[in-house]
Order: sequence, then C-alpha cells, then structure tokens
Amino acid sequence: MCGIVGYVGAKAPIPILVEGLKRLEYRGYDSSGVATMNGEGKVFVHKRAGRIRDLEHSMPGECPKANVGLAHTRWATHGEPNDANSHPHLSHDEKIAVVHNGIVENHSSLRTMLMGEGVAFRSDTDTEVIPHLIARFYEGDLETAVKRALHLIQGTYGIVAMHSEEPDKLVVARNGSPIVLGVGDSEMFVASDAPALVAHTKQVVYLEDGEIAVLSPEGFRTTDLSDRTIQKDVNELDWEIEEIERGDFEHFMLKEIHEQPLSIDRGLRGRAMSDFGDAKLGGLNLDRRAFFDIKRVCLIACGTSLHAAMAASYLIEELARIPCAVEIASELRYRNPIVDANTLYFAVSQSGETADTLAAMREVRRKGGIVLGVVNVVGSTIARESDGGMYIRSGPEIAVASTKAFTSQLLALTLFALKIGRMRDLSSTAGKQLIHALNELPDQITTVLDQSDSVKEIAHSILDASYVLFLGRGGNYATALEGALKLKEVSYIQCEGFAAAEMKHGPIALIGDGTPVIFLCPRDHLRDKTLSNMEEVKARKGRIIAVCNPGDERVMALADAYIEVPETHNLLTPFLTVIPLQLIAYHAALALGLDVDKPRNLAKSVTVE
Ligand code: G6P
Repeated sequence: MCGIVGYVGAKAPIPILVEGLKRLEYRGYDSSGVATMNGEGKVFVHKRAGRIRDLEHSMPGECPKANVGLAHTRWATHGEPNDANSHPHLSHDEKIAVVHNGIVENHSSLRTMLMGEGVAFRSDTDTEVIPHLIARFYEGDLETAVKRALHLIQGTYGIVAMHSEEPDKLVVARNGSPIVLGVGDSEMFVASDAPALVAHTKQVVYLEDGEIAVLSPEGFRTTDLSDRTIQKDVNELDWEIEEIERGDFEHFMLKEIHEQPLSIDRGLRGRAMSDFGDAKLGGLNLDRRAFFDIKRVCLIACGTSLHAAMAASYLIEELARIPCAVEIASELRYRNPIVDANTLYFAVSQSGETADTLAAMREVRRKGGIVLGVVNVVGSTIARESDGGMYIRSGPEIAVASTKAFTSQLLALTLFALKIGRMRDLSSTAGKQLIHALNELPDQITTVLDQSDSVKEIAHSILDASYVLFLGRGGNYATALEGALKLKEVSYIQCEGFAAAEMKHGPIALIGDGTPVIFLCPRDHLRDKTLSNMEEVKARKGRIIAVCNPGDERVMALADAYIEVPETHNLLTPFLTVIPLQLIAYHAALALGLDVDKPRNLAKSVTVE
C-alpha cells in the first residue's frame, strides 16, 4: 500500500527520497512522486503513473537544490492511477505539498466546501482536500495550519506536509496509518516504514495516532492536536541493511523462501527447551494463573497470516487440548464479537499494520479481551498495542507474497501450543519429541529447497492450466489454501485450495482431462483418506502432482509427478509441505515473465480497509 518518505537536512533531498521510495516498492503501488522547493518560493513537484523507474527517467536533468523534500508511492483508492492523481498534491497557490496514506472519509463534503470558496481541484483523489485545507488556515505557521486542517478531517491518515515559506521544516501527522521518524546527525527522516530509513539511521521514533511531529535539521518535536507536548522515546532498529537487499538472489521472494532454514533456527533459539520438552516465551505477559484459566484460543488474521493461524490451530488443539478458533479479521471486527475472559486472543500479522487485523484487535480489547500479537515487524502498531506477544523473528520480508513469515508464524504458535500443552496434559516425552522434530526442520527445509530444479519443471507444467486445485487435510488443508494463494498472487493462474474431502462437494466438477491437482499427502494418519481422493481425481483424468514423503510408493504410483519432503512429526508437516508450493508459485510467475516481487494490485501491508 502507499509509501511515504521525507527528508530535511543539508543533503540533496531527491536522491534520498527516490532511494527511499525504492526501498518501499515492495508495499505495492501504481504511481509515485517527489516534491522539494524550487528555489523561487514555490514547490517543485514531479510525479508519474507507473514504476519508480518511470519517475526517475522522466525527471528533469537539473533538480532544484533544497533542504527539504517529501515523496510517495500511491496505491490507488480514490481516482485511477494517473499522473494527476499521484502524490504529492499541492495547494492552489502551489506553496504547500502533501503526501498522504489512508483515506479521507469526508472528502466529498470538504471538496464541495472548498470549491464553494473558489478552490480548483486538479485530481480525483480524496487527498487533495488536505493541502487546500492547510492553505485555507495558513497564517505563517505550517504546524498550526496542519492542526486546524486535521480537525476537519475524518478518516485515516499518515501525512507529511511542507511549505515553501518554511524551507527547513516538515510537519508530520498520524491517525491510523503508520509513520516512523528517523533521527540523523543534523538531519531528520520520515517514512511510512522502517526499510526506507535503515540506510541512513537506526534511531527511530514511532508516532502514535493523534500525534503531530515537526521535523527540522536540528531534530523533532511532538505534540497532539491540542498542542500538548508529548515526549517520545527513540528506539534502535534491529535490521541490517543486507537484510533488506536482494544479495545474490534474483528476487526477494526467492531470497525469502531460501531464508527459511535460518528464520526457523532463529525462531527456535532460546525458546525451545530440549531438556524439558517445553518452550520459553518471554513476552506473553501472562502469569501462571492466567495460563490455567485459558479455555479457548482465538487467532485473528488476514491473508497468509490467516493460513498460518489455521495450520497452527490444529497444533494448539492437539498439543494443548484447548479449542482454537480462527477468525478472518475483517469479519470479526464488524460482527460485534462475543468476547469472554477465558479466551486468549492472538492478532497474527507479519507487518503488524494490517488495518483489519488491527481494528479487530482493538475491538476485542475494547470489550475486555486480552490480545497477544504474533508479529514480525518490531515496533509495529499491533506489537505496540497488544497486551504482549511473540515476535516471529523472520527478519524483514520484502516480497509482496509472504513466504518465510508463514513458517515463522506457525513456529511461534507451535511453541505457544507446546508451552500451554506442557502446563496441561502433554508429557515431557511428547514435548521432547516435538522439539527434536522442530530442531530438524532447518536441515529438512534445506533438503526441500535443494529440489528447486524439479519443482521448477512441475511449475512449468502448469503454466497453461486454466485452473489448478490444491488439496490437503488437517494442517495441510491450511497449506493447500496457502499454496493456492501463493500461486494466484504471483502467477495470476486461477486456482483454489480445498479440504481434500470437500472436493466432491464442488471442485470435482472442474476436474477434466489434464487438470492439475496438487495433493499434500505426507505419510500421516490422514494419508489413506487422501489417497482415495487421488483415485477420484485419477478416475477423471486429472493430473496429480503430489507432495509426499520419500519412498511412498502408493502415492508415487498414482501421481503424474511428485515432490518429496522429509518425514517429520505428524503435526509439523505443513512446515515442509508449504516449501515446494512457494517454489511452484515463484517459478510459475517467473516463467510467465511476471513481476514476482510486485504482483499487480497487491500490497505488502494493507493499511486501509
Ligand atoms: C497482504 C499481503 C499478504 C499478507 C496479508 C496480511 O495481503 O500481500 O502477503 O499475508 O496482507 O498481512 P499481515 O502483515 O497482517 O500478515
């Protein structure tokens, strides 16, 4: 979704802004733009529909020199993705430039009011009302004008504004869209996401909703909309620049798939207690009594995180013998959820910023529920607002299609299941067996990754398919959903995931000669049932692609192609079966010549409803 970068300091702003925008490309966007001062008392703006390279290539040779600038990547909501609708937007006197993430919900009444006052609009966006409103209130102090404008705005925003008469200043505000400030040496940065800052500083400040910051080369100052001063802590970012670069990999998606042995290892370190068959999870903030009182667990998430939560729900029920519900965040938030004191809620989110997950979490907390976060991005809104939780430690995930976060989220929730199970009926022997199997996962994932070439062949065999079906049972039902999501996200091939037995209640109608059906069929207690489903596909001349354990001859005899994944604990198979599905999606998209890391219309972090 939209990205923001801003800079104030002695360096030339445009290269810093463009480089920052590139770091945010992964968020998904369809146009981009920059603004700085033109040296003649006006704002210089350059913006373009399309990719950041289109913006760069069309930039005038000599850009104005100034001490301040702001930039934006836009993911269209109001108004099509064209040059005029791209940000930054200007006030009618061209002295104020604004970039905005979020949605101005009352934009049409504000637009009518401003047009009645003679303001001419240049775009179809909701955002354009903001610079005009600021100009309406401007009396020589941008900060005051921004505050007065924001009093009239309903909706969500992360905004950065500048004024040509205050050339060393950025005014920044947040309400519902993430904003992080970067503190440099006689310079300040601002961005919607930390990756845009890492190359310049690791000292960051997270703005909260309702806060306004004024940035100058000397530093920053924060207040609320009523001018009360707010003291902010400066945090240290724990990301390294190499972690947000592709290195030797052709794409971030491939890099992140290959990082899974490492991310799983990192997720286990210091948490899996082999000697006791138990897990140590420091950040849950629950005392022993609270653990005993848990009667139900509810996992709230969207997208890939939802599938990781689904896979984890089987583990939680099995290991802890506690009922576990999985809720689509956008459904839960509007359902007036029934919240009870004995249910423990988890908001599962890679970014920690997904609007629906955040809103569902806030709604549950408002009703008195305890919500823990299962989050990757340290310092993100869900991490800050939850009652405690677990960081999944997968490292920055840049590709829009989530891969390593899936396995790391599943791991964090598995360790939670183990911990709570061990406080109840799970024996130390069973706990130790699980940890032994968890410790083997990094090497086993490497074994699967080593088969990338044969997986590539399989991916190439489905490129012409008009439909691909993914089937699995138990935790691998969630993997089937995730495999289908991955494939459609990056290759745009029509596909869906189903619980294997549900095939006969619908998708079987779509299976004909050569239809690819990808079965997740490890040698577990459900394998024989899945084999029957394979027979049903075979009888209809479907093309069976199986993910199975080595030497499973019954599966191999039925399958037209197969990928072997090592045997593991019955409950842990999704950690391994998902890997070839990620690779299939990657190779299919690549072979189709698609932009793997930035699929069309999708965004990494969905910060609007
Ligand atoms: C977007 C991303 C997905 C992600 C989902 C949930 O749709 O493209 O990859 O799974 O949001 O995001 P979260 O950050 O909450 O895990």
